[in-house]
Amino acid sequence: MMANSCGYTIWLRRSQNLLRLSQLQENMISGTHRTHSVRNYKVSVVGAAGGIGQPLSLLLKQNPLIKELSLHDRTNVKGVNMDLSHICTATKVESFQGEDPASLVDALHDSNIVVVPAGMPRKPDMTRDQLLGANGEVAISVSRAMCAACPKALVAYITNPLNTVVPIAAETMKSLGCYDPKRMFGVTTLDIVRARTFLAQRLKLDPAEVNIPVIGGHAGITILPLLSLCSPKLCATPDEWKALTHRIQEAGTEVVKAKAGGGSATLSMAYAAAHFVNSLLRGLKGESGVVECSYVASDVTEAAFFSTPLELGPEGIKKNLGLPKMSDDEKEQLKKMIPELKTSIAAGIDFAQEAICCAKIAEAEAKAKALKKKNDKCKKK
Ligand SMILES: NC(=O)c1ccc[n+]([C@@H]2O[C@H](COP(=O)([O-])OP(=O)(O)OC[C@H]3O[C@@H](n4cnc5c(N)ncnc54)[C@H](O)[C@@H]3O)[C@@H](O)[C@H]2O)c1
Repeated sequence: MMANSCGYTIWLRRSQNLLRLSQLQENMISGTHRTHSVRNYKVSVVGAAGGIGQPLSLLLKQNPLIKELSLHDRTNVKGVNMDLSHICTATKVESFQGEDPASLVDALHDSNIVVVPAGMPRKPDMTRDQLLGANGEVAISVSRAMCAACPKALVAYITNPLNTVVPIAAETMKSLGCYDPKRMFGVTTLDIVRARTFLAQRLKLDPAEVNIPVIGGHAGITILPLLSLCSPKLCATPDEWKALTHRIQEAGTEVVKAKAGGGSATLSMAYAAAHFVNSLLRGLKGESGVVECSYVASDVTEAAFFSTPLELGPEGIKKNLGLPKMSDDEKEQLKKMIPELKTSIAAGIDFAQEAICCAKIAEAEAKAKALKKKNDKCKKK
């Protein structure tokens, strides 16, 4: 494991761009965004009619870099499309609805970025395996459709359990011969958005002035906010540090409890995802120094997928900036999370392998059936 203080310096310098999207939106609202010439990209949202999908699509409809917004959902997406299409920005919106793979392929055709908030949120009585059973299929169907419709697109998964969903998608794309690890991301931006907010409250500052990297994964102890690198510096007792770390790791539960059965974080997640997509777009158009933390294929730890600061570019990940310099306590927390991450990743690989195997059997059965039909026809003649 290599401490990379240079990477962290770049991270600090660049992470001021976190609020850039809102500045962009302010400009748009005040009418100062005459940026038609840069409106170049097609972004698709899979799960666009959901709790995250709708506000995310609303924010993306306002992004001046997006030429075309393609919305896909199993249900109810036509109304979302009609509603958004009345907003007076030049982004063209279209929608595709249905469970059949063809509707997804049509939606994703020639996308530059695919964002995936499809799938159900975890319910209080649900085990991780049950959630994986429900949402693992999303990663498989999106991967298959992307290989057919937009193999060079960047894909950003939001669907939970994220630590497992991204490995499922990677394994599926690998089996189809169209996997590029530089183009696949698990969105962990909400952990950073929350860390900045909570630390700003503690430091009595505007969140725009606070920076902190959050590394690892996106569940419980795999979320590791590096409080020792908080800028401005955080002076607190060890107990306070522990409490802040715990709050950031369990912030999703605060929202689930407050919504009392009405779902999980949707609005803050939409904000975080819209920010992340904007950073991907800035990288695509060749802007230099765009840095984000994201859960990606990685060799900086023993876990095959891990979130560290990444420099983004026209091909997705330009450079993994590696592990920032950590305190001894943070190094200990990192050690503790690795077995959990490895288990989640292994579960994803198993899930994908099983689906690949089933798909091969189904394909062989279909071929055998077709052959039998042909033979029967010949015999009759
Ligand atoms: N990464 C994060 O930080 C983070 C934060 C919050 C929530 N989440 C996750 O995001 C996901 C969505 O949450 P939500 O609150 O928007 O849920 P939701 O139930 O409100 O919306 C999900 C949408 O996905 C659609 N959908 C489901 N399967 C689909 C498929 N195969 N193809 C197309 N559309 C499909 C549903 O019809 C629905 O409209 C959940 O898995 C949740 O756990 C992630």
